[in-house]
Amino acid sequence: MTSPHRITGKARVAGVIGWPVTHTLSPALHNYWLAQYGIDGTYIPLSVTADHLAEVIRALPVMGLAGVSLTLPHKELVLPMLNSIDATATAIGAVNTVIVTPEGKLHGTNTDAYGFLANIRPHLTATNKAVVLGAGGAAKAVVYALAQAGFAEIVLLNRSLNKAQAIAASFPAAKAANWDYRDDALQNADLLVNATSLGMTGKDPLDIDIEALPTAALVTDIVYAPLTTELLARAQKRGNPTVDGLGMLLHQAVPSFEAWFGQKPEVTEALRNYILSGLA
Ligand code: ATR
Repeated sequence: MTSPHRITGKARVAGVIGWPVTHTLSPALHNYWLAQYGIDGTYIPLSVTADHLAEVIRALPVMGLAGVSLTLPHKELVLPMLNSIDATATAIGAVNTVIVTPEGKLHGTNTDAYGFLANIRPHLTATNKAVVLGAGGAAKAVVYALAQAGFAEIVLLNRSLNKAQAIAASFPAAKAANWDYRDDALQNADLLVNATSLGMTGKDPLDIDIEALPTAALVTDIVYAPLTTELLARAQKRGNPTVDGLGMLLHQAVPSFEAWFGQKPEVTEALRNYILSGLA
């Protein structure tokens, strides 16, 4: 038997707040790292409705928690409940990580953009033109990341054009375009990102013709269930490099874990396989 992960009364405690929280992969992810690095700490799921979010957030310092991750619908609701919010979370308009400071204050940050970029950066060969599908919370983090990466042109297409326009207004390199234009928008692109929920198990398929996309362009999907979405499968078939969405989830947890537990963890193939084994 391998030695169990020992947790003492001095353990640092963090968690994930969501409603529902039952499908989250974050406890498996953070507890894998805690065991790997032999850290006296634990990470738990916390099922909290929007109605109770404020009282739970306020209680974090008095309960001695190191911090929490937030999933939908709490990422935006938490903004007025914090003492400070960093520039990234302010620009994205959402907080996915709350850190309790040594003074007992609540600090908000957003690691989704970091996670998106860390996942694709090793595969990115050019940063002239990106095409992003979708204009929800995830799309905003993606556009923020692409602007940081120096993309000269970011074309944002969404079924509801006004939501794409609202995001594009915050980023000089971004411009919104009509959803009907999505096939043609792919010309000369270096990167295509699906940031909609289309193609996810149980959702509608993503209806797009990628013939105009250069075969050198990188294709990535924020959807990771299924791991190889139909978009990624089609891209691979015509020779495009692809990156699946699971890596974004793994990488976005890195800065949060480091802030709470004082160790920068590694995203490895073994970790990926461990998380995948829980998805099956
Ligand atoms: P969020 O990311 O904020 O949770 P969501 O409701 O899950 O948002 O939707 C994510 C994205 O998928 C949105 O850009 C949404 O388009 P709208 O803004 O027009 O709602 C997009 N989406 C969902 N279903 C779609 C469909 N059938 N066709 C086109 N886009 C769709």
